[in-house]
Amino acid sequence: MAQSNPLEQIPLELLRERTSIKWRRYEPDVLPLWVAEMDVNLAPPIAAALQRAIRAGDTGYPGSTPFVEAFAQFAAARWQWPTLEKARIRPVAGVIPGYTDALVEAAGPGGYVVVTSPVYPPFYSFLRQAGLTVVEARLTDHLRLDPDALAATLAQARRDTAAGVGVLLCNPHNPGGTVHTRAELEQLAHLARSHGATVVSDEVHAPLVYAPAQFTPYLAVDGSGIALHSASKAWNLAAMPGALMVFGHEAADAHRAYVAGTHHAPGHFAAIAQTAAYSQGGPWLEAVLEALDANRHLLGSLLAEHIPAIGYRIPDSTYLAWLDCTALGLDDDPAAVFLKHARVALNSGPTFGAGGAGHVRLNFATSATIIEEAVRRMAAVA
Ligand SMILES: Cc1ncc(COP(=O)(O)O)c(C=O)c1O
Repeated sequence: MAQSNPLEQIPLELLRERTSIKWRRYEPDVLPLWVAEMDVNLAPPIAAALQRAIRAGDTGYPGSTPFVEAFAQFAAARWQWPTLEKARIRPVAGVIPGYTDALVEAAGPGGYVVVTSPVYPPFYSFLRQAGLTVVEARLTDHLRLDPDALAATLAQARRDTAAGVGVLLCNPHNPGGTVHTRAELEQLAHLARSHGATVVSDEVHAPLVYAPAQFTPYLAVDGSGIALHSASKAWNLAAMPGALMVFGHEAADAHRAYVAGTHHAPGHFAAIAQTAAYSQGGPWLEAVLEALDANRHLLGSLLAEHIPAIGYRIPDSTYLAWLDCTALGLDDDPAAVFLKHARVALNSGPTFGAGGAGHVRLNFATSATIIEEAVRRMAAVA
């Protein structure tokens, strides 16, 4: 059955009744196009699975098998991931605790982690809180991996610490939605190997790739890596955090240490919701991708018409546009200007690290009317 557009189901006044952070952080006259929540209703098979669990009083601890099975089948069908082994997939409390644990394990106390900036701000905060030092290898101006920057940063990290070195990759990349190619990932794997660094790949946005771009799992090119997957972004399940840590076939020590050690597990409702997403959420995912695909182009035409000085590269994945506002002369943090004067909430570029100044991140997982109104308001102050 054809699905209706999931981004056009909820009028603004109903969205404003939501109590999640997207809708409650700012005053009611602000249009919120910031944090990575989508303005959708829950996919019907996920809602049904949760309702069944509530009716049955099924509120205990999760078993891991259905979640792992559902993901493994989804991943094999969608990404033809030949080396994925169910025995190497472990449910964890969320993507962030997953990558933090993996890097603490891989780099050890005093370890260094290379991130490719500008990047999702919790790549810095959680690792620093865990005692790791974060160093940056800037992406190119087109937001692609830069092998020279990676080589130089890895070499410097090796010199600066006697402990371990890791790389936290964002694949696909947030912000801006770059889908790293197999060749780029192979180059990264080669560099990491030659500097003795473990790569942890955050792949939470992997289901949200627009054809003809194609997601390549990092572990398909590097058996010593560790990846994190979750249904939380593609099916809008931030309320039910959970993730899967996937160990490459050569990541034996990290795998053993993690499985034997203390780790955080997802809640049972998260496991139920994510299992339903991976096993029955395919048609809804295709409908949301079609709607997002239209919105990434809509944003492009609106910006070209109303604020042509903003630089925007249509993303190959995600709903998180990265807008270069440097030509507007709004200083380092245009998001502050757009919030104050246009009453549009965007993410502040400088929080994404080096390369973020003069930029904003805009979340276009909403209705066309809200996107049009946001751009109209932004144009009035640009
Ligand atoms: C790259 C990246 N990693 C992790 C997360 C957090 O995911 P979760 O809420 O499932 O922990 C996000 C959320 O936007 C993200 O963009």
